[in-house]
Parts: sequence; C-alpha cells; structure tokens
Amino acid sequence: MKGKTMDQFGGTWTKTKLDILKRYLDAYTTALKNQHFDLLYIDAFAGSGSLELKMQGSDRTDWHSFRDGSAKIAMDIADKPFDELIFIEQDKGKCDRLQSLKRSRPNRKITIENTDANAYLQNLEENCQKWRGVLFLDPFGTQVDWATLEKIAGHKALDTWILFPTSAVARMLPTSNIPDEINSQWADRLTRVYGNESWRDLYRRSSQTELFNERNIERPPGVTNLINIYKDRLRGLFKRRLLEESIELKNSKNSKLYEFIFCVGSDSDKAIGAAKRIAKHLLGLSRVGTS
Ligand SMILES: C[S@@+](CC[C@H](N)C(=O)[O-])C[C@H]1O[C@@H](n2cnc3c(N)ncnc32)[C@H](O)[C@@H]1O
Repeated sequence: MKGKTMDQFGGTWTKTKLDILKRYLDAYTTALKNQHFDLLYIDAFAGSGSLELKMQGSDRTDWHSFRDGSAKIAMDIADKPFDELIFIEQDKGKCDRLQSLKRSRPNRKITIENTDANAYLQNLEENCQKWRGVLFLDPFGTQVDWATLEKIAGHKALDTWILFPTSAVARMLPTSNIPDEINSQWADRLTRVYGNESWRDLYRRSSQTELFNERNIERPPGVTNLINIYKDRLRGLFKRRLLEESIELKNSKNSKLYEFIFCVGSDSDKAIGAAKRIAKHLLGLSRVGTS
C-alpha cells in the first residue's frame, strides 16, 4: 500500500495546516447551516485524499504518521456536510485515488477535475447568488497565480486559505543581492505569483544601512519581507477581508516553509467579523505547534 495509495511528504507543519482546515470547515458549515446557500468546498491542489507524513521525534528519530488529506477531511465534515465538493488535481494517479474515494460516497455531489488549478478557478462561474464556500489553496510551491486570486476575490463567496510558499520563493532569489541577476524564468514566475514586480522591492536602495555590495543595493535579512510584500498585495485586493494574523509553518530544522494566510469571501461586515474571529482563534491555537 505504501507509496501507491498515499502521498508521502510533509511533517508537523502538514498536520498543523490540516488541523486548522478541519476545524475551520467544521465551524464554517455549522455557522451557515440554517442559511439558504448551497455550501461548496473547493480543494484546488487536492492530492489523493490520504497522506503519509514523515515526522521527527525529539530524539531526532524519524517516524511515520498516516492521516487523511484535505479532500477526505472535507468529505467527512458531518454536522452540516458540504452540498458540493470540487477536487482539482493535476496528477492523474491521484485523481484515480480521489475517484475511489468518491465511489465510497455514492450519495455525495463530488466533482474531480484532472486539470490545472489556475485554469479551472479562473473560469469558475460568476453567479454566486446561490452558493458560499471555502477554497483551500495548498500547492507544493509557486503554483498559485495572482490572476487566480483576483478572480476569487471578485466572487465574494469563497473563504480562502492560502499556503504561501516562503521557502520556494526565497530559493528563487539571487544570492548576489542584485535583482537583475535573477534567472529570467524565475522572475516571470515571481511576477505571476505576486501579480506585478513588487517582489523586486525586497532589494531596496539604502545609504544608511550596511552596504552589501558596491552597487549600494541591500537585500533585507530573512524572508519576512517576502511575506510582507505578498500580504500588502493581498490587502490591496481583499481589503479588510484579509486576516492580518497569519502563521509560519516551519520544518524540524526551524526553517520557514510556508505562511498560512486567510481571506474572507463575503464583504458583509457580519460575515467578515465571524469568519475572521474563527480563523484567528484557530491560528492562535496552533501557534505552539507550527515548527
Ligand atoms: C501539497 S500537495 C496537496 C496536498 C493535499 N492538500 C492534501 O492534504 O492531501 C499539492 C498537490 O497539488 C498538485 N498540483 C501541483 N500543481 C498543480 C496544478 N497546477 N493544478 C492542480 N494541482 C496541482 C500536486 O500533484 C499535489 O498533489
């Protein structure tokens, strides 16, 4: 079974993000259960429905933990189950495994799309009168295009959890601290992720701080600014629907891998207040377990 029916990756941070997702989905469906909307869950990077996590104990020995992936977690939300679930997954083998999960729930409305998440989401229907939902954007790397987020923000119907790939973005940046030395393919990729060239602001001119090279260009330390610039962009797009609090997900060596960020779908004050309260609470609860 190992390696055939499970995705093998992750660690404690994977558990953290999935715990938050599960609790949010539970709270979300319960909060909306008496409203007239159809409830939709979209998993844009759905995986196969199950995972084998590689964990490390305090004595540094590895051990493995098996658990449900996001798609299965969403299917199993019970208090008020989602009316419809859409799983998008580019890998054909994983889609086949999602299909077997779907066969085990013949009464559920489940759509499996073996396609690119950005293409699918950018063509999602405009008419959001009848439905509300949650979107989970859980890529391995820099696969989420800014244009996709623009489309989602415009729907005003999908609460969105985003895994921002801090370490993947950091690895693309030139170690020379000279912005123009970035590989042009990576520059294009970052521009697609950020939606413009704002990522180049990581390199700012300074005459006051220590100079790192003769061209007087400084690369700010750490990856915090990578995330800050991205959150500035999200703030511009989602306005007050962006939850300011987000959490770092780190590996066992304490390296920052992802930033877990939340944006509310609806722009009604009541919905924003309720969704942010729940999400903030869940992020706070998990803060001790993010490394
Ligand atoms: C981090 S994994 C998702 C894990 C999943 N959320 C879970 O809990 O089991 C990312 C998934 O995205 C898929 N993927 C990568 N690029 C994609 C794309 N452009 N569109 C759709 N799926 C993609 C990969 O095959 C992989 O299964």
